[in-house]
Amino acid sequence: MISLKGKDILHGNQFSKKDIDGIIKIASNFERELKKKDSLTLLKGKILATLFYEPSTRTRLSFEAAMQRLGGGVISMGSVESSSVAKGETLTDTVRTISQYADVIVIRHPRTGSAKEAADAVPIPVINAGDGTGQHPTQALLDIYTIHKELGSLKNLVVSMVGDLKNGRTVHALVELLSLYQARLYFVSPGALRMPEEIISNLKEKGIEIVETEDFMKAASESHLIYMTRIQKERFTDLSEYERVKGSYIVDGEFLKKLKKKITILHPLPRVDEITPEVDTYPGAAYFRQVRNGLFVRMALLSMIFGKR
Ligand code: CP
Repeated sequence: MISLKGKDILHGNQFSKKDIDGIIKIASNFERELKKKDSLTLLKGKILATLFYEPSTRTRLSFEAAMQRLGGGVISMGSVESSSVAKGETLTDTVRTISQYADVIVIRHPRTGSAKEAADAVPIPVINAGDGTGQHPTQALLDIYTIHKELGSLKNLVVSMVGDLKNGRTVHALVELLSLYQARLYFVSPGALRMPEEIISNLKEKGIEIVETEDFMKAASESHLIYMTRIQKERFTDLSEYERVKGSYIVDGEFLKKLKKKITILHPLPRVDEITPEVDTYPGAAYFRQVRNGLFVRMALLSMIFGKR
């Protein structure tokens, strides 16, 4: 069994297949335990601090819920505007301060590399909840947990990743984990939102088969799984460029009818227009189950960081 005791979680590439097996096992135990009990006492007396410099619903609330379901406490910096960040306090001073109150920090920040910078500044574990367009490793772990549950295996997968592959930290982290299982990957995006070249060359060096395409239907017809992503308006400096690419790829009832096969659909959420609400009742639409799985995976990670599992 891996030990995450006292460790930071910063990047998808820090996990091995054996680590993922361990995390899946612990998360599924928590999933079973929560069916019998509302909360546990494993982390009683421990405090988690959430520090979100960018908006979030799922990541922040699921970490807070996970800590509370484990019997621990939660403190939050709240919005940037209501904290001393608004007075010009640096990231390192802020995390040094918070480390005086809390036992673990969960941070989201618009700058790539900021979570590592925070981790280097404090003696307590830091969890990267999204650093700009960089990484979102706990999302990738809950995605893997969801794929394992929905498809029954992580072997021989063909996955279409669709949308804003340039800015999507969730896909940047998930490809690190999928590469451990030699998944075949379709990258479906407008030319301007291609997966960064550095990530593609790293994957190719690991022997991963990649097809870059703008033909979503063809990629989907050859995949077990579609991983949809939102085109991230907030990352565009030129809004006319956003207007040009928005709505490039949409899963709706007609798309699924034309596809003529059952497929699993994941999305880290939030969505804008890339999956229409009519798809929500489609049996393969797993994105709200994926949200729920985030709770179990984050319970697993927190319990492991404190050496309790
Ligand atoms: N998936 C995800 O990171 O969602 P939030 O932005 O709501 O945290």
